Amino acid sequence: MKRVIPMIAGAIALSFSVAAQAQAPITIKFSHVVAEATPKGQGALKFKEAAERLLPGKVQVQVFPSSSLFGDAKELEALLLGDVQLIAPSLSKFDRYTKKVQLFDLPFLFDDLDAVDRFQQGPEGKSLLDSMQKRGLQGLAYWHNGMKQLSTNRDKLERPEDVKGLKFRIQASDVLEAQFRALGANPQKMAFAEVYQALQTGVVDGQENTWSNIYSQKFHEVQKTIANTNHGVIDYMVVTNAKWWNGLPEDIRSGLQKALDEATAHANKLAEELNERDRKLIAEAGRAKIQTLTKEDIAEWRKAMEPVWKKFERDIGQDLIQAALESNNK
Ligand code: LMR
Repeated sequence: MKRVIPMIAGAIALSFSVAAQAQAPITIKFSHVVAEATPKGQGALKFKEAAERLLPGKVQVQVFPSSSLFGDAKELEALLLGDVQLIAPSLSKFDRYTKKVQLFDLPFLFDDLDAVDRFQQGPEGKSLLDSMQKRGLQGLAYWHNGMKQLSTNRDKLERPEDVKGLKFRIQASDVLEAQFRALGANPQKMAFAEVYQALQTGVVDGQENTWSNIYSQKFHEVQKTIANTNHGVIDYMVVTNAKWWNGLPEDIRSGLQKALDEATAHANKLAEELNERDRKLIAEAGRAKIQTLTKEDIAEWRKAMEPVWKKFERDIGQDLIQAALESNNK
């Protein structure tokens, strides 16, 4: 009898601690590098709201905007180490993990964001979400930001010759590096959080980004001209640690996927609206001039950037490039 009582007490204590564990919400950290008033910033907040609503008491989501937890250089490593559970890097930032996603950086590949969307929702786009599983990364969704514009600290920004010899901040992407080299400019890979200061102090002369990133980071206050080149896209892949994701209880995983679907719809619906709003706010602020380009100007930029395609098409694959091009014609 004496031995039985401690055993029962032990079993009760154990079942209490299992119950307590089962009840403790899973903490999910979502880290990103942009401001909250951007499509990605809004998407992350929507995800938190939806996940905590759909899985009450089961998950707690903490969102860290503006590189406040991890910046560009660290966020993918932190995800693989389990220090953060969700991130949404721009598609330009995966080239150490797969060459295929470099597709999105080919200049003038997509006519507009609708074409990007059609490609992402098609079979080839979807397959890229699974293309980094071997490296421990699981893609869960694409989120839009928008088309990229080019800016410099010079008055004239109409044709490719206007950027010859200038220094440009780029995201960590070999395709973008080749793009600026093709223009005769000097690209410099740099984390997003460092760009404003680099522009302000003249470490670099220019950069490329969406209207929402330019406005929320105040780049227009330290640049003279922004040309509406629309020469490429900045979109995101929401990624998680594959092992962590696959180890989640089924109900949690499917609840999180539902929350992500809501967040994706929300962010993607807002993307064009926020970029358009920020383009107008930049124009109203009157700091940087917005340079409208003619069809002929655009044709010159396209021609100057064309050599980039040859350099990367083998790594990316003709099948993907073809599918992306076809998404322009629907
Ligand atoms: C950049 O580094 O310019 C962008 O990728 C930032 C972002 O996440 O939109």
